[in-house]
Amino acid sequence: MSAIDYAEKIPNNVNLVGDRTLQRALERWQPQFLQWWHEMGPNDFEGANVYLRTAVSVDAQGWAHYGAIRMPDYRWGIFLADPVAERKIGFGDAMGQPAWQQVPGEYRSTLRRLIVTQGDTEPASVEQQRLLGHTCPSLYDLRNLFQINVEEGRHLWAMVYLLHAYFGRDGREEAEELLARHSGDADKPRILTTFNEPISDWLSLYCFTYFTDRDGKYQLKSLAESAFDPLSRTCRFMLTEEAHHMFVGETGISRVVKRTLEVMKELGSDDPDRVRAAGAVDLPLLQKYLNFWCSSSLDLFGSEISSNSAANFASGLKGRPDEGQYEDHVLREQTLNLVTPQGASDVPMLNALNEVMRESYLKDCEIGLKRWNRMIERAARDFRLSLPSSRFRRSIGAWAGQPADPQGNLMQRELYETSLADWIPSEADKAFVHSLMQKVIEPGRMAGWIAPPERGINNLPLEYEYVKLH
Ligand SMILES: [Fe+2]
Ligand SMILES: [Fe+2]
Repeated sequence: MSAIDYAEKIPNNVNLVGDRTLQRALERWQPQFLQWWHEMGPNDFEGANVYLRTAVSVDAQGWAHYGAIRMPDYRWGIFLADPVAERKIGFGDAMGQPAWQQVPGEYRSTLRRLIVTQGDTEPASVEQQRLLGHTCPSLYDLRNLFQINVEEGRHLWAMVYLLHAYFGRDGREEAEELLARHSGDADKPRILTTFNEPISDWLSLYCFTYFTDRDGKYQLKSLAESAFDPLSRTCRFMLTEEAHHMFVGETGISRVVKRTLEVMKELGSDDPDRVRAAGAVDLPLLQKYLNFWCSSSLDLFGSEISSNSAANFASGLKGRPDEGQYEDHVLREQTLNLVTPQGASDVPMLNALNEVMRESYLKDCEIGLKRWNRMIERAARDFRLSLPSSRFRRSIGAWAGQPADPQGNLMQRELYETSLADWIPSEADKAFVHSLMQKVIEPGRMAGWIAPPERGINNLPLEYEYVKLH
C-alpha cells in the first residue's frame, strides 16, 4: 500500500517529491485551481464548516477521514490505486503484452483527448451545481452536495496530474484550458452537452447524480481497463469516491418517492394537481425529470457505430466496463445486431462498443427504478416509473433527431414536437419545482417535498449539524 504524503503542499501517493519539475508545475497550477474554486465553486459557502470525508489512503479498508473543514481548505490531492505487479493489457490486439508505464507516441493525442474529455466533466459539474446550496432541503443534503463538489474537484486534480506528468507542455496547456472553459458559457462551453445543462433545482441534482454520475462510473470503469497503467490506476481510485455520488442520486429520488406516497396517502388521492398543491412532486413529474436526464446522459456514450471506439479498443486505450466478465477480449470475429432507423443490420462488434456500454449502463440504471417501483407497489398505487428508450430525444448517433416517443416508437414529427411537453419538464413544471426549493437549514429538519434519509453520515445522527453556516 502506498502511503499518502500529507506534509506536502499537494497531498499525493505518487512520490511528487522525487520529481521536482513536475511538483513545481503542479504547484503553479494549484493557485489557479483555488482561484477557479473561489470563482466558480459554491463560493457563498466558503466560511462554512462542512463535515467532509477526505481521502487519506487508497486502502480499501478505511481510505477516508471525516471531519469538519472549510471547503477552500480541503486537501485536494493526487491518489492512484496501488499498482498491480506485472500488469498485462487485458483486451484488444496487444492483449497479453505488458501494460504501458509511458504514453506510446502513436496514441499520444488520442489518450490526451480521452483524459481531457473526462477531466472536463469534473469541474463542469461543480459549476453546474454552484448555486444549489441556497435552496438545500436539509443540512444533510447540503453536506452531500459539498462532498460531491470537493470530490469532483479532486477528480480534476487526478486528470491534471496525468496531463502534467505524461504529456509535457501540451498537457500543461490542457490543464489550464480545463479551468478556462465553463459550464454553459457561450464562448467557451464545456466539451459535452450534458455538462452545459443548468442544474438549478435539487430534483435535477438527484437525477444528475443518478444518471450522469453513473455515466461517469462507466467511463471510469472502461478507462480503468486501459493499457496506459497510470490512467488505469487513477480511475480505479476515482471509482471509490464516485459510488457516493450515485448513492446521493438513488437515495435522493427514493426519498422524493417516499414523501410523494405519504402525501398521496394523506390526501387519499393520486391526482397530480392535488399532490402539487400539497407541496410534493407528483410521480408523472418525476417521470419527466427521469426522461430528461436519462436521455441526456445516454448521448454521452456516443454513436451506436463508431470507428473511434473500435480503434480505442483495438489499441488498448479504452476497454469495456468490467472487461473481465467477457470471454472474447479481441472481438475481431464478433458482430452485433443493431437496429437503426434504416433497419436492422449486423455490425462488427468492435464498431458497436458504445452501444454495448450504453446497454450495460441502462441495465445498471434499472436497479433504482425497481426499488422505486417496489415502494409505489407497496403503497398500492398504479403508477410505475420507467426509463426512456435509448431512441428517445437523442442528439448523437443513429437516432439523433428522430421523432421517437419514450417507448421508442417512431411517430409523426409534428405530434412528437407537441407531445414533448408531456415527456420532459415543461416551463410550468420547472417553475413548480423551483417553487418547492426553499432552504431548510435547521439540523435534522427536511423540506416538505422530501422524506428524511434512513441514516446520517458516518453513523452520526440525522440531527447532527453537518454544515455549520456562519
Ligand atoms: Fe467525478
Ligand atoms: Fe461524480
